[in-house]
Amino acid sequence: MASISVNLEEIPSESLMNELLRRMKCAPKPEKRLILIGPPGSGKGTQSPIIKDEHCLCHLATGDMLRAAVSAKTPLGIKAKEAMDKGELVSDDLVVGIIDEAMKKPSCKKGFILDGVPRTVAQAQKLDEMLERQGVKIDKVLDFAIDDAVLEERISGRWIHPASGRSYHTKFAPPRVSGVDDVTGEPLIQRKDDTAAVLKSRLESFHRQTQPVINYYSKKGIVATLHAEKPLTDVTDEVRKVLS
Ligand code: AP5
Repeated sequence: MASISVNLEEIPSESLMNELLRRMKCAPKPEKRLILIGPPGSGKGTQSPIIKDEHCLCHLATGDMLRAAVSAKTPLGIKAKEAMDKGELVSDDLVVGIIDEAMKKPSCKKGFILDGVPRTVAQAQKLDEMLERQGVKIDKVLDFAIDDAVLEERISGRWIHPASGRSYHTKFAPPRVSGVDDVTGEPLIQRKDDTAAVLKSRLESFHRQTQPVINYYSKKGIVATLHAEKPLTDVTDEVRKVLS
């Protein structure tokens, strides 16, 4: 693995202190490996940063990774773009490859949140094989159950900060200043696939290819079903109960 040398003198003291405090807080936390499954707009990306901070996990969102690859026009991004624009799934091998690589990051030491993967039973089986080789397993699958009818309003009002993956909603989670990310002050954008027409095919893919993944994990007795149609903070409370 290539090593990156960092000159610690160049890093502001406040950042170093914050990182030190974070590591001290995280040291006693138990390891956790979680999967978040739900249709587009069900709240996976909204709850993930909260779970990540509270449990010291890394957040691996295949949608964010693929969008970054598309905008950087990498070979992976060029292959993924066509499927993503149409609301179809990218091939299993591409997705499993990026997850395998991402899990090796030091930030995944205490475990991970998989957001948007596995999306097919084949991906779930490949993931299980990968984890078995590492001698670990998935602890919990959070099923963001919600009626399709609620999702169009959520998707059409969503604005995202592409660099961090933070998402906002004009009605349900507005930024402090309209059109601007709360943390960096950078502009927010709307996703290309967040249209009513593409949502229809994303939902169709979800019901046909991803719903069976919930059954796959139900047989292992590790699925917790959430009421994802509830207000944001109520869903956070449900997640906390499940993971406590
Ligand atoms: P991806 O980026 O994973 O999209 P998705 O699964 O369709 O999920 P979303 O990001 O749309 O929804 P979310 O549940 O995160 O909702 P959010 O929290 O933002 O994938 C995109 C594409 O990449 C796929 O279509 C596919 O082509 C490809 N891809 C990705 N992974 C793949 C894989 N494994 N295999 C193959 N292809 C893959 O919430 C939505 C909005 O609602 C926000 O504005 C939020 O503020 C608001 N909100 C959230 N919770 C609440 C609440 N409780 N009440 C009110 N509003 C809420």
